[in-house]
Amino acid sequence: MTTSPQTKTDSTARQKVTTRTFMLKKKRGQPITMLTAYDYPTALAVDKAGIDSILVGDSLGMVVLGYENTLPVTMEDMLHHCRAVARGASAPLLVGDMPFMSYQSSVNKAVENAGRFLQEAGMDAVKLEGGRERADAVQAIAGAGIPVMGHIGLTPQSVHAFGGFRAQGKTASAAKRLIEDAHILQEAGAFSIVLEAVPAQLAQLISEQLAIPTIGIGAGVGCDGQVLVTHDLIGQFDRFVPSFVRQYAQMHQIVLEAMQSYAQDVENKQFPAEEHSIFMKDEQWEQLLAELDA
Ligand code: KIV
Repeated sequence: MTTSPQTKTDSTARQKVTTRTFMLKKKRGQPITMLTAYDYPTALAVDKAGIDSILVGDSLGMVVLGYENTLPVTMEDMLHHCRAVARGASAPLLVGDMPFMSYQSSVNKAVENAGRFLQEAGMDAVKLEGGRERADAVQAIAGAGIPVMGHIGLTPQSVHAFGGFRAQGKTASAAKRLIEDAHILQEAGAFSIVLEAVPAQLAQLISEQLAIPTIGIGAGVGCDGQVLVTHDLIGQFDRFVPSFVRQYAQMHQIVLEAMQSYAQDVENKQFPAEEHSIFMKDEQWEQLLAELDA
């Protein structure tokens, strides 16, 4: 642990990713990469890894704060973690996730809260969940000059309405409704849409029909980009692994083993060693002993 004061991140040389970059990547058929982050060190790593965009997701509630679902997450929780991410990452497009009840009760409230993500927390854009029922909010937020990302399919803030975390759009009628919702969000001014836990054929069809990019999670390879919860990808969330996640590391196990080794070293007096200790110069030590004897 360094004792020097925190300095602003030395950003990688790459250019800032914007909503325009998202559109260009879609046009060129280049997949967009997105990961979640909730803190400074993770944001730093996501930026260094060359990822296009960071979502400060309300999944924060489950993977960092230990709630059962995302519903208890507040605006203050989100802004606090967004600020930490903004201190760690410069190049990725930073998207703040609007928490439950920060945008549903009125369009004015939605615009005010969306604005706080940009004004108080260093975000470049916001995301909110829902289709046609959120068209007014999306239109008003986009109208205020705030880039807004939609999110349809499995929208975790509706977990109780869905009766659990279930895939969506699996019947012809449900799929048709999602296609309509995607078009409505695009018309309302969304710059991109997350498609979560929907059939791969449906996600590909929506992606082909829309001019704006789709970002899939559990939605197959036919989306214009992919997002994952970083804690799932690095194996740091211990409760469950969604079926659509590929784990690239086992961080929970690695951290556990490191902590067990530390405990063992402390108990066996193997830590701290000489190189971790500070010593007085001999003459100062002798002087102290002499003074204490006097
Ligand atoms: O909160 C979140 O991390 C999300 C992603 C799962 C898309 O909304």
